Amino acid sequence: MAASSCIALLGVLVVLGFAGLAAAKGGDNVALAAKPKNKTVAEIFTSDLFDLMFNHRNEPQTHAQGFYDHYSFITAAKTMEKEGFGVTGGETVQKREIAAFLAHVAHETTCGYSAAKGGPYAWGLCYKEELSPPKIYCEDSFLYPCSKGVSYHGRGALPLYWNYNYGPAAKYLKLDLMNHPEMVSENATVAFQAAIFKWITPVKPKQPSPHEVMVNKWKPSRNDTLSFRSPGFGMTINIMAGDDECGHGSDPKMEDRIAHYNYFLNIIDKDVDPGLNLDCGSQGVLNPPNPVQ
Ligand SMILES: *[C@@H]1O[C@H](CO)[C@@H](O)[C@H](O)[C@H]1NC(C)=O
Ligand SMILES: *[C@@H]1O[C@H](CO)[C@@H](O)[C@H](O)[C@H]1NC(C)=O
Ligand SMILES: *[C@@H]1O[C@H](CO)[C@@H](O)[C@H](O)[C@H]1NC(C)=O
Repeated sequence: MAASSCIALLGVLVVLGFAGLAAAKGGDNVALAAKPKNKTVAEIFTSDLFDLMFNHRNEPQTHAQGFYDHYSFITAAKTMEKEGFGVTGGETVQKREIAAFLAHVAHETTCGYSAAKGGPYAWGLCYKEELSPPKIYCEDSFLYPCSKGVSYHGRGALPLYWNYNYGPAAKYLKLDLMNHPEMVSENATVAFQAAIFKWITPVKPKQPSPHEVMVNKWKPSRNDTLSFRSPGFGMTINIMAGDDECGHGSDPKMEDRIAHYNYFLNIIDKDVDPGLNLDCGSQGVLNPPNPVQ
């Protein structure tokens, strides 16, 4: 009896030892089942999907013809992978986050309209910068003073405005955007990197970033709950647009973002549910309108 339990124990040790060895090598089913390795953005979001979503981006009437491509997006995502964009939470969450990010991108850069060929949501990535900016978007700033003769108007896939928004992006990306903000609209990788930076950065301290909301890292505070702010795509609209689009029932710009989100998620994977709380119509607004105008 003693001998047989000894053999049984030995068997367990052998199995454990084998699993440990395989796990260390990183190439075993046991190890994979215990700790699933998430797909990369490139594995989930192929260039075919990119073309389906943005299939009019190179038409002659667009303003960014030939600028944006799948490779730039994937490269930007790869350089910022450690931030967790598009690689967090498993496949459903990853697909939702990528669709949500691109929905905001498309809403901000579209030249679609209801009767446009292919429908209103097929015209994202049409712009890469604000046309005829009314001013240079320079505000006194100790941390991010404006450079002489430079304009900080809207540029990129999720447009940056103002010196005080270019500054943190420049610092993060280690690029001289204060002197050369035009890099954001002349290099598509930078255009997407700046957009992802905006996506992972809260507008104000103690507020979640859109990224944190989409990967379920944000837990509403008591105040949030009292203001009807709940996890879901609607909260990302609240963060990005605040008072402009949220807190007053239906709003055409809010509806446009939601429609883009549903349209894109359906292209990525028609079986993935978009989640709860898609709108922000009854949410208390987080921020006053962006001082864009
Ligand atoms: C990968 O996905 C799982 C859920 O399937 C999640 O628990 C884990 O945190 C993810 N890994 C990273 C690095 O986000
Ligand atoms: C565009 O920006 C990326 C990221 O900073 C850089 O690696 C690349 O060399 C740039 N491309 C050009 C043509 O300047
Ligand atoms: C909660 O909301 C109240 C009223 O708007 C405000 O006075 C208070 O500072 C908020 N608390 C937190 C922790 O944000």
